[in-house]
Amino acid sequence: MLSQIPINLEKVNKDNLDKEIMRVAVIAELDAVNLYEQMASLTGNENLKKVLLEVAREEKTHVGEFHAMLLKADKEQERDDGR
Ligand SMILES: [Fe+2]
Repeated sequence: MLSQIPINLEKVNKDNLDKEIMRVAVIAELDAVNLYEQMASLTGNENLKKVLLEVAREEKTHVGEFHAMLLKADKEQERDDGR
């Protein structure tokens, strides 16, 4: 395993636990995007590069899924662009 949860979720207030998990999930998915794109840039194997970039795109959709959940769960996270 390359990753560890960056905070101790056992110490998180129960009301905030799911929101904290969603934030950690967003971080993990963004980290995965960077990892796959970095590996894609390193390999000279065109097929491997193609698969890594496809997986990176899938990870970007996962970022969006967790972020959408977080927007619903955390009212302070709502749009703040004046609309
Ligand atoms: Fe993912």
